Amino acid sequence: MRIVILGAGAGGGLPQWNCGCTQCSAARRGLIAPMTQSTLAVSVDGSTWALLNASPDLRQQLATWPALHPTSLRGSPVKAVVLTNGDVDHIAGLLTLREKTGFTLYATDATHQVLSENTVFGVLDPVLVRRETVFLDHPFSPLPGLMVTAYAVPGKTPLYLEGETPELEAMGEQTVGLRLQAGGREAHYVPGCAALPDWLVDHLSQAAVVLFDGTVWSDDDMPLSGTGAKTGVRMGHVAMRGPAGSLARLGPLQGRRIYTHVNNTNPALMPDSEARATIMAAGWEIANDGMEIVL
Ligand code: MLT
Ligand code: MN
Ligand code: ZN
Repeated sequence: MRIVILGAGAGGGLPQWNCGCTQCSAARRGLIAPMTQSTLAVSVDGSTWALLNASPDLRQQLATWPALHPTSLRGSPVKAVVLTNGDVDHIAGLLTLREKTGFTLYATDATHQVLSENTVFGVLDPVLVRRETVFLDHPFSPLPGLMVTAYAVPGKTPLYLEGETPELEAMGEQTVGLRLQAGGREAHYVPGCAALPDWLVDHLSQAAVVLFDGTVWSDDDMPLSGTGAKTGVRMGHVAMRGPAGSLARLGPLQGRRIYTHVNNTNPALMPDSEARATIMAAGWEIANDGMEIVL
C-alpha cells in the first residue's frame, strides 16, 4: 500500500488567505513549507488510486503528483474518492472532478445527503460518478487489493450546518475514521476527531501507521495566537497536548504516528517551537505535502 499526503493542512491551508499569524507569515517568507488542504491519495497496484477526501486545493494537488496524471487523452488514474465528513476542506475539491470522467464516490448516507442538498455537486454527472453508500464498520473495496472500513469517531456536524448548539462529540455517520487494509498491513486515517476514548485507542492499536488529527497543539491555540476565540473542543478537534490529548493517549501505539490536518495556527509548525520538540521527542511525525508512506 502506498499513501501520499497530497495536503497536510487543515481548512484554510498554510498560509491561509486572511491570516497573518506566526506560521502563515513564516510560510509567506519561505521559512517553513506551505501546506495545501487535507487530502490523501492511496494505491495498492500503483496504477489506480483512491483519494481520501477532496480538498479545495485538489486541482493543484493532482497537478503536482505525476502518478495521478492522465495516461490517455481523457481519463484519470483516480478511480475512487472516499469522504470522512462533509467539511468544506474535504468536499470542495469534488467540484474539480467534473468534466466527464467516471469514478466512484464513497461516503456515508449522512455525507451523501449533505452533497445532494448542495445542488452544485450535481456537476458530477450521475451517469459517470457513482455514489456508493458506506455503512459503518462494513468493509468495502474502492480499488483492487484495498479494503477500507469506515467507523464512527467523536465529531461534530460540518461548520455550515451547525445549529445554535452543535453536539461536539457526536458519534455517528457525520465524522468517520478510515481503516485501510492491503497485503496484511493496516493504516488508519482520522483527520477529524473530538476525543480519544479507550475503545478508539484500542481500535488503532494494530495499525502500522496512524494518520491522526493534528489540528491543534493545545485547545486554546487560536485564543492564544489572537486569531480567534474558538477552541479545539468547539471545532471538534482533540488537542495534541494534555492528559486527554492525542500525544498522551496514542503514546502506547507501536506503529508510526503521523499528525495530518494540521491547522496553520498550530505552533508545532515552527521548527524551533517547544510544541514541535515535544512531539518529536514523543516519537511522532508531522506530515508535509508530498510525504509518501509505503507499507
Ligand atoms: C474543521 O476541520 O474543523 C473544518 O474543516 C473547519 C471548516 O469547515 O473550515
Ligand atoms: Mn477540516
Ligand atoms: Zn495563520
